[in-house]
Amino acid sequence: MPPPVVTRNPVVAQGTRLVAVGDLGPGGVREVETDAHGTLAVGISNGRPFAVSNVCRHQFAKLGQGAVDADGCLVCPWHRAQYDVVTGTMLRGPQGRIFGFPPYSKTVQTTSNAVAKLRSFPVVERDGVIFLVP
Ligand code: FES
Repeated sequence: MPPPVVTRNPVVAQGTRLVAVGDLGPGGVREVETDAHGTLAVGISNGRPFAVSNVCRHQFAKLGQGAVDADGCLVCPWHRAQYDVVTGTMLRGPQGRIFGFPPYSKTVQTTSNAVAKLRSFPVVERDGVIFLVP
């Protein structure tokens, strides 16, 4: 059973100012509460800032508690589904002994991409801070 869904230490955005890059933490992504879009997963991928929906399409883990991998993909903290942060596409379904069963994992991936890609929000980085583009 996955751990309970809780938000830990989200950064609270100040208007369009989301988070300092230095505050992203070792995973390169952080939960940020915004007035405009609710809580987002905000981070850096391949040197570029991103902001996407915070909720994994598999079992609703908080993606802002995940990590950006060496390829720049956002990886879910629970079962390691992998997302493209530009398109919101799930590139790899959930992993692991149970949820990684290939037909199941592929079905989650296909369904997610057909009906519920992550939403991606335009952001810019200025002076080490990530901002929403209004
Ligand atoms: S909750 Fe994200 S992969 Fe399972």
